[in-house]
Amino acid sequence: MGHRVSESGASWKMTASSQKRKRVLSGMRPTGKLHLGNYVGALQNWVGMQDQYECYFCVVDWHALTTDYADTSKVKENSLEVVFDWLAAGLDPEKSVIFMQSHVPAHAELHLLLSMITPLGWLERVPTYKEQRENIKDKDLGTYGFLGYPVLQAADILIYKADVVPVGEDQVAHIELTREIARRFNGFYAGIKHVANPFGTGLPMIVPPSRPEVFPEPQSLLTPAAKLPGTDGRKMSKSYGNTIMMADPEPVVRQKLKTMVTDPARVRRSDPGNPDVCPVGDLHKIFSSKETMVKVNEGCRSAGIGCIECKGWAADSLLRLLSPMQERRRKFEENPKLAWDILEAGSERARKVSGETMMDVRASMGMSLEYEAPGK
Ligand code: TRP
Ligand code: SF4
Repeated sequence: MGHRVSESGASWKMTASSQKRKRVLSGMRPTGKLHLGNYVGALQNWVGMQDQYECYFCVVDWHALTTDYADTSKVKENSLEVVFDWLAAGLDPEKSVIFMQSHVPAHAELHLLLSMITPLGWLERVPTYKEQRENIKDKDLGTYGFLGYPVLQAADILIYKADVVPVGEDQVAHIELTREIARRFNGFYAGIKHVANPFGTGLPMIVPPSRPEVFPEPQSLLTPAAKLPGTDGRKMSKSYGNTIMMADPEPVVRQKLKTMVTDPARVRRSDPGNPDVCPVGDLHKIFSSKETMVKVNEGCRSAGIGCIECKGWAADSLLRLLSPMQERRRKFEENPKLAWDILEAGSERARKVSGETMMDVRASMGMSLEYEAPGK
């Protein structure tokens, strides 16, 4: 309960030991059921941040529309699936704000305002933009919304005045851009707060520097990229069809492991292998205990074990992690309304916090909702 004091803004009560926790925001696109790559690449890290930070986790369903605008029939269902996996993995609505982007309209308002000050050149230079324009040929990404993807992301982050954004390598440029947009906004508008003058005139007052900047510049926190191979040995990715899902039942996990590629040098049972060049070895490194790792290393290099046995151990390790999650997931699958209610309660909190930021934003731009006498 200690942190509640500082959250409510009673700073006079704050001591060194109860300092306000840093705020984290991150988002994930509603891709439907998550796979192990999503887990080790992001979700696992989020779960671990909940005690140390004040966390906001957002299903960015509007971001899904930047590429999949033509068919929106699955967005809602896919969003809920993502939330199932978040809750299964241990995101905890008692600790974190878990919410849906499209249920917090202020994101769209801030996106609009930020779009006014974001130079086109900044967006055209974003690496993910250039790559995707070149690589994705089955849909037309020559849209306003797709170019503006990182502006919407900046709005997601800045509207909570987040300090820290946990992301993968591919997103670092977006966080950098977010800082540049924040700096530009602060440069144009911060410093002057147009607040109603308590002495009765309509003159806006300049509120000095207890909080000169509207937006703090967020830092990205790189999720250490564990190289998680899919069943074909390439990076695990939905588009390669090589995934192991967090919700895969035991027989499916075992079957997928059985067909997983191994060290190509180990053709026969009697050939020694090398776990360092084997995708199954990579799974062991991430999910298996030290003892198992020792058995794998020795057994593989001496041809003392076969790949089938080794894969069985890898499946055991995976299932040890996944079973308790799947147990938690079941509760929400059986009663999806539970997850929906969590999302709604989180979105309500997010609306409140983002609404407060928008008051600052409008005020700093001289566009507050309060009456001011004309011509001043
Ligand atoms: N662009 C991010 C991705 O593709 C998703 C995202 C949207 C996000 N808004 C965000 C991530 C805000 C962090 C913070 O993974
Ligand atoms: Fe890979 Fe295990 Fe076979 Fe070695 S024994 S090649 S680590 S699957």
